[in-house]
Amino acid sequence: MIYSDRLRTFLHTLEGPAAEGEFPFDRLRLQAQENGVPVIRLEMEQFLQVLLELKRPEHILEVGTAIGYSAMRMASFTSSDVKITTIENYEPRIEEAQRNFASCPWNERISLIRGDAAEVLGTLERSAYDFIFMDAAKAQYIHFLPDVLRVLKTGGLLISDNVLQDGVILESHYAVERRDRTIYRRMRDYLRVLCRTEGLTTSVIPIGDGAAVTIKEQDTVEIPAEGSLSQGE
Ligand SMILES: C[S@@+](CC[C@H](N)C(=O)[O-])C[C@H]1O[C@@H](n2cnc3c(N)ncnc32)[C@H](O)[C@@H]1O
Repeated sequence: MIYSDRLRTFLHTLEGPAAEGEFPFDRLRLQAQENGVPVIRLEMEQFLQVLLELKRPEHILEVGTAIGYSAMRMASFTSSDVKITTIENYEPRIEEAQRNFASCPWNERISLIRGDAAEVLGTLERSAYDFIFMDAAKAQYIHFLPDVLRVLKTGGLLISDNVLQDGVILESHYAVERRDRTIYRRMRDYLRVLCRTEGLTTSVIPIGDGAAVTIKEQDTVEIPAEGSLSQGE
């Protein structure tokens, strides 16, 4: 994304060092980077903080825990009665996330569900969450969407991360490498559904790797069949 690297470097200079006794988010972020674990970018983290303070949710659902960085960050941004449920299917990361949760001050508020989100989401209660952070396998977002909207309360917010893939999703179909075309097509379908479906209001924002902010405006939202909104891609 244009400015993206420069913006991140600049934002880090604004942050300043962590205060004495504060949970060491900086260290965890560095460790994650060194180990090749993707965690939310700093600009996305700040954006989530603002959205959480505006929305003041009661129960947050995260799809894609990794090592628990963003779950703990969201816990740190919200009050002590806010619960966070987070889903992850990759065992080594689950173990690391559990260790991190056990050592953080928000452990009691965070529940990790292990398993494939495609299955886990179907077991969750209707309208149980008022804020959902989607941050898992990008090609699966469109498949997760019916259940995600079922478990999201009316008036709730869905935040989908990495929807522009560093600008790749904005390119012409012909400029995209053959191996990336499935994810390209599915992400474009996903964004079309979010933007065109009656009962959803969405803004796509070039922050981080691209984020979509969606409000579920009505109880029942009929999602068009996959591919029905494609434009010959
Ligand atoms: C970008 S990382 C999440 C980063 C995390 N939200 C953070 O910022 O700290 C995406 C995670 O989603 C997990 N994931 C991908 N597909 C999944 C699925 N179908 N079910 C559950 N977890 C999945 C991956 O294993 C990976 O750890």
